[in-house]
Amino acid sequence: MVKIAVLVSGGGTNLQALIDAQSRGEIPEGKLSLVVASKPGIYSLERAQKAGIPAVVLRKKDFDTQEAYDAALIQTLEDAGIGLVVMAGFLTIIGEQVIRKFENRILNIHPSLIPSFCGEGFYGLRVHEAALKRGVKVTGATVHFVNEICDGGPIVFQKAVAVEDGDTPESLQLRVMQQAEWKILPRAVALFCEGRLSIKDGIVSVKD
Ligand code: GRF
Repeated sequence: MVKIAVLVSGGGTNLQALIDAQSRGEIPEGKLSLVVASKPGIYSLERAQKAGIPAVVLRKKDFDTQEAYDAALIQTLEDAGIGLVVMAGFLTIIGEQVIRKFENRILNIHPSLIPSFCGEGFYGLRVHEAALKRGVKVTGATVHFVNEICDGGPIVFQKAVAVEDGDTPESLQLRVMQQAEWKILPRAVALFCEGRLSIKDGIVSVKD
């Protein structure tokens, strides 16, 4: 059984998708074991409490350096016996130490079809604003492993979503969440926990 930690910074709809998938028995080899919030008072913490998942708040500003924050995060994850870290709407930068310690065991959900509209500064509504400004007809979401390059790790799953006439960043974000994020993230987590994701030369394949 792989113990899963979910790192959150906001409303937690992706966390909820994982909770609901677990309730439906869709993550048989994984257990949501910890929620790490980047700040207090976010709705993600309500969702964790309702689901009976232990939660901690780890605020970057409480640490003098990136290294001190990374060490605290690593300690928190190791104390909980975490085998998979899922960044779900998490906005705090994690440092090299964390990435090395949990190499190929950190998944992130990004609300675009990487390599479009990703990297530094592309998060939340900004991603959808950029997609609408560019006039793309198709966008979507990507689940990828986290490495030292922002949104640059090996891609696990992607799902396309149509941009519709009259879309606002908010309407597009909701559609991408509903039709893509909330589907591909639980699926990727389940397959990881079943040991069915392999990476070769930066390319992810799903083992039968
Ligand atoms: C959303 O923009 C989502 O696309 C991205 O993080 C933001 C908040 O997600 N992954 P959540 O509702 O907190 O899961």
